[in-house]
Amino acid sequence: MITKEHIDPANLPKHIAVIMDGNGRWAKQHNKPRVFGHKNGVNAVRETTEAAAELGIKYLTLYAFSTENWKRPALEVNALMALLVETLGKEISRLNDNNIQLKAIGDLKKLPKRTREALLKGIEETSGNTGMVLILALNYSGRWDITQAVQSIIKSGVPSSDITEELITEHLSTKGIPDPELLIRSSGEFRISNFLMWQLSYSELYFTPVFWPEFDKPAFYAAIHDYQNRERRFGMVSEQISTS
Ligand code: IPE
Ligand code: IPE
Ligand code: MG
Repeated sequence: MITKEHIDPANLPKHIAVIMDGNGRWAKQHNKPRVFGHKNGVNAVRETTEAAAELGIKYLTLYAFSTENWKRPALEVNALMALLVETLGKEISRLNDNNIQLKAIGDLKKLPKRTREALLKGIEETSGNTGMVLILALNYSGRWDITQAVQSIIKSGVPSSDITEELITEHLSTKGIPDPELLIRSSGEFRISNFLMWQLSYSELYFTPVFWPEFDKPAFYAAIHDYQNRERRFGMVSEQISTS
C-alpha cells in the first residue's frame, strides 16, 4: 500500500483534477439504488480533499456534475442537486477548519436555485481562506468552457490578430489557476467525458479501477506516486529533460 511517506514533497503537482466516477456501479454491487452510491461518494470527496490539503496540493478540482448529466433520470438529478445542498451545509465548517477556499466552475446559472445559493454561500464563507483551493466543476463541460471563452473574447472586441493561447486561457473559467499536472479518473473508464478539454492538454492521466465511493487516501497517494515516476517531456527528448 502506498502511504504518505512514499510521496516526494519536492515533486508535488500544484493542481490535481479528478473525475469522480463509479458511484452507480458501486451501489449496484451492493444491491442499492444509485443514489446510495452518490451519498457514499461524499466520503471519498472528504478523504481526497483532506489528503490533498495535508500534502500541500494547491488546487484540487472535482468533476461533480457534467453538462451531459442532466440527461439522467430526473429522480437521480434531483437527488444529486439535493445532496449538494446537504453536503455543502455540513462541510463548510470543515473547509474553514482546514483553511480551504471553495470555488466553482461551470454554467452555474442553470443550477437549481437552492443548489446555487448553497454553493455561493460556501464560496463566500470560505473566501478568506489561504490554503488549498477546492474547485467544484458543476454543470461543467470542457466544450462549454471554450465556447463561453470565445463568446467573451468576441464581446470584448479584441481583434483576431491579438487572440493568443494566453488570451484564451484568461477567458476560461479556470483563469488564474494553473493547468492540472495530474488527472485521476476512478471506476476503470478510460475517457475524459468533456472535462477540462483545453487545460488537460499536457496533464498526466491516471486511471484506477476503484469505484469512487471506495476511493480513499491510499488510492490518492498511489495516483501521486505514479505521477512522480513519470517523465514529463513536453515534446522534448529524454536527454533534454534530465540535463535541464
Ligand atoms: C459518478 O458516478 C457521479 C456522477 C457522474 C455525478 P456515476 O453516477 O457516473 O456512476 P456509474 O458510472 O454509473 O457507475
Ligand atoms: C463524468 O462521469 C462526469 C462526472 C464525474 C461528474 P460520467 O459517468 O457522467 O461519464 P460518462 O457519461 O460515463 O462518460
Ligand atoms: Mg459514470
